[in-house]
Amino acid sequence: MSTPQIEAAPPCNLFLFGANGDLVKRLLMPALYNLNRDGLLDKGLRIIGVDHNAASDSEFAARLEAFMRERDAASQGTSKCLDDKLWARLAKRIGYLTGDFLDEATYQAIAQRIRSNPSANAVFYLATSPRFFSDVVQRLGAAGLLDETDGFRRVVVEKPFGSDLASAEALNACLLKVMSEKQIYRIDHYLGKETVQNILVSRFSNGLFEAFWNNHYIDHVQITAAETVGVESRGAFYDGTGALRDMVPNHLFQLLAMVAMEPPAAFGADAVRSEKAKVIGAIRPWSKNMALKNSVRGQYTAGKQGRKKVPGYRDEPRVDPDSHTETFVALKVMIDNWRWVGVPFYLRTGKRMSVRDTEIAICFKPAPYAQFRDTEVERLKPNYLKIQIQPNEGMWFDLQAKRPGPALAMENVELGFAYKDFFKMQPSTGYETLIYDCLTGDQTLFQRADNIENGWRAVQPFLDAWKDAGEVQPYAAGEDGPTAADELLTRDRRVWHPIG
Ligand code: BG6
Repeated sequence: MSTPQIEAAPPCNLFLFGANGDLVKRLLMPALYNLNRDGLLDKGLRIIGVDHNAASDSEFAARLEAFMRERDAASQGTSKCLDDKLWARLAKRIGYLTGDFLDEATYQAIAQRIRSNPSANAVFYLATSPRFFSDVVQRLGAAGLLDETDGFRRVVVEKPFGSDLASAEALNACLLKVMSEKQIYRIDHYLGKETVQNILVSRFSNGLFEAFWNNHYIDHVQITAAETVGVESRGAFYDGTGALRDMVPNHLFQLLAMVAMEPPAAFGADAVRSEKAKVIGAIRPWSKNMALKNSVRGQYTAGKQGRKKVPGYRDEPRVDPDSHTETFVALKVMIDNWRWVGVPFYLRTGKRMSVRDTEIAICFKPAPYAQFRDTEVERLKPNYLKIQIQPNEGMWFDLQAKRPGPALAMENVELGFAYKDFFKMQPSTGYETLIYDCLTGDQTLFQRADNIENGWRAVQPFLDAWKDAGEVQPYAAGEDGPTAADELLTRDRRVWHPIG
């Protein structure tokens, strides 16, 4: 099968605010390197780091190179990525600008850099702490840097976008004061994952799915993002954030939207994002009591991850020893529209769980039992469609089949497709598509203002309800959340689909 030819993105000045942070070295620079390796960056692309620590162009490039080499060395030859010649060519296009994000002089220097380059196009990537988002954007606007007379001007805003509905609305208002929606690229890195994009493609390119994709045949949907890592070095950020804000209105709702949205009229940005906004907007806003009843918060205590002993959350660096922040959350949400009314969506995510697994399990209504009354089969199990986002990416239907032999006995079998069996994928960070799309002006995989606000609107009842109620329940590291998370489903006579 031939792969469609993709053109290199147009020339541009790509300013990376927060150039010395983790995101730039761990993800953005490797993604840019991969795009360049694949011939998808124009020779006129300039990458300019912006941060307050003084450094020269070559020092910044050398620092990035050192980090990428260290990473290669740490992979012990399993995923050596950096090719010397390719890197040397890219390094020539890397620059650095020392400047305080709050100082007007920084923006004058940026304007000067743009003037000194042949292309007037610019992308401003805010890889900074979220407290700078509004200030940087206002200053870009005031300096005339968002004026598109000579070329395009776009701003990429990283997550977290707000910390509740009010702050997300305020941030949107601030951005939209100085530029149009078309210039804003709100990132959710889950949308850069091939397997997440594949949900839409599989749903809408295979006629069979639509036939049963509704409340007549689907009993409920489970969305799980289980992580084995703890909070690592992010204690200070995470303790003020928690699992709900960190994962639900963004990543988990993106997965929910991909599964639950109506078919868009086309795969263009407006059509796709309108359908997503509609379905997220149709999530029922719970009353305080219902929000408490339909949510479980957990926090990991000391335990074992495999054979390794790991500390509890409250003993992690830069975490309050009396913290009540949740590191696990399980929720039940309902979507009040024609397709989904009556079908619960159960969401759960947590740190320090037993395995790393992001998956969607779609549970179908069981077949009627009548034919099996006079057999040894006691009950029919429901079928599941499991869409595994990571690791071991793929899709599996589990079905029941007759076990060979004279008796009528049933066994679960799987019909499936694993990505690795069909496609050879180059190492990638997940940011390649997102950066390329931003450079080429395709907003489909970015969040529109209403997508973000609807997400916060749906989680706000939980945030409000937890303010003065809803204790965090302990779970030992290495377990899949507190027992109350199981009860959330047993109450509805359901169980979590086993993860892993
Ligand atoms: C980030 C969260 O947005 O997503 C992290 O802030 C989380 O806490 C991460 O670990 C999960 O991403 P992935 O791609 O590893 O599933």
